[in-house]
Amino acid sequence: MALPLNRRAFCASLAAAALPRPSWAAGTGATPETLTAQKASVQLAPEGYPATPVWSYDGTIPGTTIRARQGDRITRRLVNALDEPTSVHWHGIRIDNAMDGVAGLTQEAVPPGATFDYDFAVPDAGTYWYHAHVNSMEQVARGLSGALIVEEPDAPDVDRDEVLMLGDWLLDPETGGFVEPFDHPMMMSHGGRTGNLVGVNGRYDFTLTARRHDRLRLRLINSANARIFQLGLQGMNGWTVALDGMPLDAPDDTTDIVLAPAQRVDLIVDITAEEGTPAGLLMRMDDDSWQALVEVTVAGQSARTVRDAPAALPPNPNTALPDLTQARNLTMAMEGGAMAGIDSALFEGERLDFRALIDRGQFWALAGQAGRTDTPFADLSRGEVVRLKLDNRTVFPHAMHLHGMHFRQVRADGSMGPLRDTILSIPNEPLEIAFAADNPGKWLFHCHMLAHAASGMTTWINVT
Ligand code: C2O
Ligand code: CU
Repeated sequence: MALPLNRRAFCASLAAAALPRPSWAAGTGATPETLTAQKASVQLAPEGYPATPVWSYDGTIPGTTIRARQGDRITRRLVNALDEPTSVHWHGIRIDNAMDGVAGLTQEAVPPGATFDYDFAVPDAGTYWYHAHVNSMEQVARGLSGALIVEEPDAPDVDRDEVLMLGDWLLDPETGGFVEPFDHPMMMSHGGRTGNLVGVNGRYDFTLTARRHDRLRLRLINSANARIFQLGLQGMNGWTVALDGMPLDAPDDTTDIVLAPAQRVDLIVDITAEEGTPAGLLMRMDDDSWQALVEVTVAGQSARTVRDAPAALPPNPNTALPDLTQARNLTMAMEGGAMAGIDSALFEGERLDFRALIDRGQFWALAGQAGRTDTPFADLSRGEVVRLKLDNRTVFPHAMHLHGMHFRQVRADGSMGPLRDTILSIPNEPLEIAFAADNPGKWLFHCHMLAHAASGMTTWINVT
């Protein structure tokens, strides 16, 4: 299967030539560092296969890891060297709405050759990421994402801190290029676009080296379009210390992990394997076997053989449990997709049956609406507490993500789960989340299976 040579390839040199020179940012007196969305060629597949033409930040997969200290401001000038508009979303940051990066909602898309200056505070320490938010189903799949790490003022006592960006790529083994199209109806109507090559930090064979008894902090980020990773630990003891950036009250003994698209988990692991014996992060395959996703080569031995269980990370500010007594109750039906379908839904103001929706590229609906509407799903006043029931009537799991605020699951017994910004909704399993709408602005709520988001599963709330 050869890729057609299209207009994009031809225009690449023109777009590069039209790039503006960097200029001084107004006010600050400093040039913001740039983040350039550009084409590049990266060896994703094993040696012997062709390199993959990717779209990336600064030419690497994943993009440069952005590191900041809690409370700092991050400034980056997005330079769009692609042939199509783009924008950057800073996933999980409780951010100023104008910097959230959602084209058509919080900013205009940045045209080819243009720039946009992002400048925002990072109130919370933790593991976050950034990715394109225009045509994300394609742009993220082509490689436009990177890690965003906000460091605690006092780092936990570990020997090493490793960012592990999990992803997958759907490649044509003949050409090394991405399989097109990205909006294949089969992917949109089923589980989304999953790759045929899985990897970490842009490598299918990513490895770490550690000593026996080393203590590592592993920051796992699922940057895949649709893949739900089921992970296990081998040759190490692990504790979950944070989810989606937010510290747990107490470290949680961990043997296996489910990581839905866009979710993060911070693990602290102690290497227990003897030198020369297998250790690492295992991944459950489709046939239920387990394979190494990250191999840890154990070499040498740390002097610190006895350690206490790790302490909790310091809590982030403003993370008190919401008071549910006055909460506003909302329900959102999640419908559509193969097998279940939709009787009808509104699309651009028109009531359409499933056939007609499909003709318009819409396979899913949230609260009876396919795709983003002009009016929000809910208008909330600042500080209002919301309980939102998610009623998954589809036959697929969905990774539901709220921009700008973290939420907690309200369990059946009324207790509340840890803070998250993305939660996996399982078909026919009741799921309720709650949050205080304390961040003003227009915030997207969508499925992070990006093909689902592009074909109906996107809505938004307004906080004023
Ligand atoms: Cu990481 Cu709107 O998403
Ligand atoms: Cu979905």
